[in-house]
Amino acid sequence: MRVIVCENYDEVSKKAAQIVASEVVLNPKAVLGLATGSTPVGMYKILAEMNKNGEIDFSSIKSFNLDEYYPMSADNDQSYRYFMNENLFNHINIDIKNTHVLDGLAEDPEKECADYDKMIEEAGGIDIQVLGIGQNGHIAFNEPDSFLYANTHITDLTESTINANSRFFEKIEDVPTKALTMGIASILKARRIIILATGASKKAITKELIEGEISTNNPASMLKVHKDVILICDKEAYGE
Ligand code: PGA
Repeated sequence: MRVIVCENYDEVSKKAAQIVASEVVLNPKAVLGLATGSTPVGMYKILAEMNKNGEIDFSSIKSFNLDEYYPMSADNDQSYRYFMNENLFNHINIDIKNTHVLDGLAEDPEKECADYDKMIEEAGGIDIQVLGIGQNGHIAFNEPDSFLYANTHITDLTESTINANSRFFEKIEDVPTKALTMGIASILKARRIIILATGASKKAITKELIEGEISTNNPASMLKVHKDVILICDKEAYGE
């Protein structure tokens, strides 16, 4: 795992945007794996600016998002589909039909998940996967446990994640307790992975990711088996 330590959040956003942009320049038909959460918002802003300035073109790009709450309708302003439209897709020249987010209202969630992995495969696989990291080490909604799922699946959210995400909801009871999420193998199949960690709340887990052993209790540690992972963090997350 390569580690890039940046001065602050803005520099993390810029470095991450540059790396994603370089994939888009190298392969105008690239398949992007995208993440929600507060961390990648700055990166999305810069990518939108680069698109507006004519530096990068998303017209033939495809994207797959990591996860979606369940149940959750796409037009709910707490959905990850809504988040992606608001933070990126509405501001770039991507064909919305080429953007994929798991359907939080799927009647048959198991089928939705199996179809999603198939769709990624048929698109040629993910060229670059963007990840955030939860304070508990989750990547997407792969929560710490005694075992982890390989493929896209439906999952219960842990108390730690429900607490962390309650800041986006009026009250904690409104946070969905389940989600559809890409699995660890679905993520590890990406050709390149960048994982962003910023702020003091990510300090302990960032240290654990860099120094710790591989354990299902820290799902992000699974990234250590991948040959092209770049951790981009700020000084607050990196620590001393
Ligand atoms: P955050 O979420 O970017 O809002 O900190 C990261 C995550 O939970 O994966």
